[in-house]
Amino acid sequence: MLELRGVNTFYGYSHILHDLSIRVKEGEIVVLLGRNGVGKSTTMKTIMGIQAPRSGEVIFRGEPIAGLPPHKVARKGISLIPEDRRVIPNLTVYENLKLGFLIREKDRDLEAMLETVFGYFPRLKERLRQEGGKLSGGEQQMLTIARGLMAKPKLMLIDEPSEGLAPKIVHEIMEIIKRLQQDGATILLVEQHAEAAMRLSTNLRAYIMEKGEIRLHGTLQELSTRMDEVERCLGAKI
Ligand SMILES: Nc1ncnc2c1ncn2[C@@H]1O[C@H](COP(=O)(O)OP(=O)(O)O)[C@@H](O)[C@H]1O
Ligand SMILES: [Mg+2]
Repeated sequence: MLELRGVNTFYGYSHILHDLSIRVKEGEIVVLLGRNGVGKSTTMKTIMGIQAPRSGEVIFRGEPIAGLPPHKVARKGISLIPEDRRVIPNLTVYENLKLGFLIREKDRDLEAMLETVFGYFPRLKERLRQEGGKLSGGEQQMLTIARGLMAKPKLMLIDEPSEGLAPKIVHEIMEIIKRLQQDGATILLVEQHAEAAMRLSTNLRAYIMEKGEIRLHGTLQELSTRMDEVERCLGAKI
């Protein structure tokens, strides 16, 4: 469904992504792991068209999308849930959710889409008229994911959904991501909690980045035989 081939992305003169190649197949959950600053968010931004690659290809459903502006990438069916939760604080939960719906075609049913989203996030239904800024951190993260879902994306890019949240909420969010994938969503996930991410699915694949390059990749089974290397890259025990 998505393929990056030899992607190089820069911020000015800083060369961040080096010949990066990754693939995400339909219905799959792929986890992107790596220490802080290795280029995980930049990879997401490159796919979304926020930071276009200087060279290399980004292919989505057989079509080259590198260089397209973010709103066009969104219209192709990719939704980015960024790491800095962008809940609009003075809009209600309902209004925030509606923003996610706007980019879609007119013929869709807002109420039906809301019901689908509430199936995953019942808490948001209870808080529908509350202002986004008055939600807890965990609820804001849920709202950010829910808003991404409102666009009914073909591919979701979820960047560090558990950052700064209490373990109980992290668990809740991971369960929701698991359910989304079981229901057929295709997800590229960046996650600091490698252990929690690896428990999301028995057949997930992971890419491990170091300094803007892919150091290791494989299925859970493949990576489990190289745990010492994985842990060295991540700088943590798993
Ligand atoms: N807007 C930017 N301008 C310049 N440098 C940036 C910008 N965003 C990120 N960087 C740098 O790019 C590198 C990769 O950042 P990022 O992709 O956010 O890493 P990660 O998500 O893996 O923590 C870091 O060295 C960071 O300082
Ligand atoms: Mg990041």
